[in-house]
Amino acid sequence: MKKILITGGAGFIGSHVIRHFINHYPDYIIYNLDVLTYAGNLENLNDIDKNKNYNFIKADITDATLINDLFKEHNFDAVIHLAAESHVDRSISSPMDFIYTNIVGTANLLNAARAIWAENYEGKLFYHVSTDEVYGSLGDTGFFLEDTSYDPQSPYSASKASSDHLVRAYHNTYKLPVVISNCSNNYGGNQFPEKLIPLAINNIKNMKPIPVYGKGENIRDWLYVVDHASAIDAIFHKGKIGETYNIGGNNEWKNIDLIHALCKIMDKKLNRKPGTSAGLITFVTDRAGHDLRYAIDSSKLQNNLGWSPSLEFEEGLEKTVDWYLANQEWLHRVVSGEYQKYYDEMYGKN
Ligand code: NAD
Ligand code: TYD
Repeated sequence: MKKILITGGAGFIGSHVIRHFINHYPDYIIYNLDVLTYAGNLENLNDIDKNKNYNFIKADITDATLINDLFKEHNFDAVIHLAAESHVDRSISSPMDFIYTNIVGTANLLNAARAIWAENYEGKLFYHVSTDEVYGSLGDTGFFLEDTSYDPQSPYSASKASSDHLVRAYHNTYKLPVVISNCSNNYGGNQFPEKLIPLAINNIKNMKPIPVYGKGENIRDWLYVVDHASAIDAIFHKGKIGETYNIGGNNEWKNIDLIHALCKIMDKKLNRKPGTSAGLITFVTDRAGHDLRYAIDSSKLQNNLGWSPSLEFEEGLEKTVDWYLANQEWLHRVVSGEYQKYYDEMYGKN
């Protein structure tokens, strides 16, 4: 029985990773460690939390003593580390939260793993989940490869880049068995509605303006979250120690085109006259230091580990819209309280 610690399992991607591992690997004991920030929601795991192989630990990765004690108590065989502050706009207004959680928190986990494994690394793995944003911003052409130089531009991406460097340094210096993946933008159910797609779905549903930064010309490479979970599975089981794998959907969209595609789906689903939702599009002040384009070359992962995305974007987008429309209660609960204050500060009261 392998004991696997998954951090940030109550968040968007983490909850899909936990569901994937619980459903595919009944022999693993899964520990979900999460402090439950505004982005962490145990409701995301309602369908699997009664499973006898699932355990929840409420803990903050910035608390080194607590993290060390938990590693001593449970003697984890492997770590899949997703816990992070993850939203670029929040990193612009509150960078220190990102520095504590993403950098110090990652260092605490590395130290605890190193101490408990005591250089007997047989069968052990520290898997660090990161983002393509560490590579910076692309112009009109080119792709991020695993050996692209780091050039992070936002406090979020700089904090993730720092954590990646620490993970590699612990491998080089202490031989800690690590693997890193850098993934493009994820979308799907259970994503907190501060990120573009769920925010737009929620606003369209409620006939509120859809805020598009600048001219909507920035480009992102979108991957369905369930496909990110299956890529993490492939890398966890078949990835080479010390290596990095880029994960992406080969699916680039200009923000404005994506929003139009979403508006079309929403008009259809809500029986609205075509064009009604697009009428809500509102261009707003651009994000400071807004990265122009991200695009991932994931051929290393596809060729070496046999992973590929399972669905086309239009299908994934429709599934995502269906999820939000079917989970309006979830949405109502997460947009109450702190969210409203954040929204008003970010976009003004409208
Ligand atoms: P999220 O914000 O939805 O979830 C983050 C989770 O971490 C939450 O459950 C939160 O409670 C928890 N957490 C935050 N601070 C913590 C702390 N100090 N101690 C313990 N738990 C804490 O994020 P997400 O979108 O699911 O991203 C998960 C990971 O994947 C992050 O490391 C992120 O950098 C990376 N990633 C995200 C994307 C994306 O598009 N969302 C793309 C590539 C990589
Ligand atoms: P986001 O979902 O925040 O992801 P990231 O910044 O990590 O890529 O944003 C995706 C793109 O959408 C990004 O170019 C910024 C843009 N955006 C808007 O135009 N309006 C919004 O309200 C948000 C949240 C994002």
